[in-house]
Amino acid sequence: MPSAIPTHLVRSKPAILGGAPLATPRMRAKWPVFGNPERDALLRVLNSGKWWRGGTRVEMAKGVTGRFERAFAKWHGARHGLCVTNGTAALELALRAGGVEPGDEVIVPSLSFVVSATAVPLVGGIAVFADADPETFQTSPESIEALITRKTRAIVVVHYGGYPPDLDRITRIAKKHKLLLVEDCAHAQGTQWRGRGAGTWGDAGTFSFQMSKALPAGEGGIVLSNSDVLAEKLYSYHHLGRLESQGFYDFHRLAWNLRMTEWQGAILSEQLKRVKKQTLAKMRNACLLSDRLEEIGGLLPLKRDPRITRRGYYFYGMRYDASAFAGMPKAAFVKALQAEGLPAGSGYGRPIQNNPVFQQMRDERGRLRYAKTRTPNADRICAETQITMGHTALLSRELIEAFAGAVARIKAHAPQIAAQARGKARLAG
Ligand SMILES: Cc1ncc(COP(=O)(O)O)c(C=O)c1O
Repeated sequence: MPSAIPTHLVRSKPAILGGAPLATPRMRAKWPVFGNPERDALLRVLNSGKWWRGGTRVEMAKGVTGRFERAFAKWHGARHGLCVTNGTAALELALRAGGVEPGDEVIVPSLSFVVSATAVPLVGGIAVFADADPETFQTSPESIEALITRKTRAIVVVHYGGYPPDLDRITRIAKKHKLLLVEDCAHAQGTQWRGRGAGTWGDAGTFSFQMSKALPAGEGGIVLSNSDVLAEKLYSYHHLGRLESQGFYDFHRLAWNLRMTEWQGAILSEQLKRVKKQTLAKMRNACLLSDRLEEIGGLLPLKRDPRITRRGYYFYGMRYDASAFAGMPKAAFVKALQAEGLPAGSGYGRPIQNNPVFQQMRDERGRLRYAKTRTPNADRICAETQITMGHTALLSRELIEAFAGAVARIKAHAPQIAAQARGKARLAG
């Protein structure tokens, strides 16, 4: 089969060695994508004079944010959706309403944004870090099961980058041990596992609508659930502990005000129409990039899994093998990609528990709580293998072709680039 990447391009000098970058700013899709529909929707809220959602569940359901909640929940196949101020609050709310009490252990991913873990101590629980699967970067079911103790109350899994964890096995584990299962879907707007949406497999699924996400509103979040009982608690805890059946000034639970505004609901309703189309375009370009990378070798896509029937993206994750690039360290490879004008990165850089907030955390006896935590796969993924590319790049086929071309020519010149990186490291040291 002839190569999809032209030979002259492979032979040309990489940007890190002084060649012209393959990606130009023009190739990048503008983000966020918006236009008159968003402007008109915001003006409608302004002119209506109704800028908040209202107090009762019925009032909330009637407004623009209420309509968005139902549409988003339907897109994922959930019975209930409740919008909140952001994805961080959504996760804390799901844990609190789901019954996590002070002292309960909650198993969390070591490979995610910090919030997947900090939500637990913020509601009084103890975060216990699970390791990741090297082929998918997702929390490994074996690691989860090995960490379950008498004190375990819940599991938080993340759809890291939008790629689902093994929900078949993880839902079985949660059922077997009668644990609350919360899916952190901040990265996974639109993701489906076996035809059913992310956020509907556990007891609750939480999402973020922060600016950089696939469905942005500046800030915002939602909690999905299929349980009427949990939905009632979520409503109450997000609304200062009110009960639907009682008066506006009767407060029954110690709780926050996490209500979303109508402004965000207006933007999100329009963005939801866009994200559905964007998701399909991103999937097509991601598939193309995966084909190209498999042809080049050395930088592989995450394992393809037919159970992922739709994939929302926060980033496209790749597995780097330095031995295919003359031993070039991952950091030097990422620099070479960035020199080509490509939005490449290394994810969050380290397992969550290596952040100072957890390194300094002590247990009830004053000992450092995470001194003995070991996540060898997550350590190796962060240090050696994980490369990421932000989701907006997947909106541009030209950029995807440039990415593949850049990997091919960096590989063809790997000995020189690796030598240059070693020289720079010697000078710096
Ligand atoms: C995995 C994950 N969970 C939760 C959050 C929190 O979302 P927010 O920024 O809306 O609070 C983020 C934010 O990026 C995230 O990446």
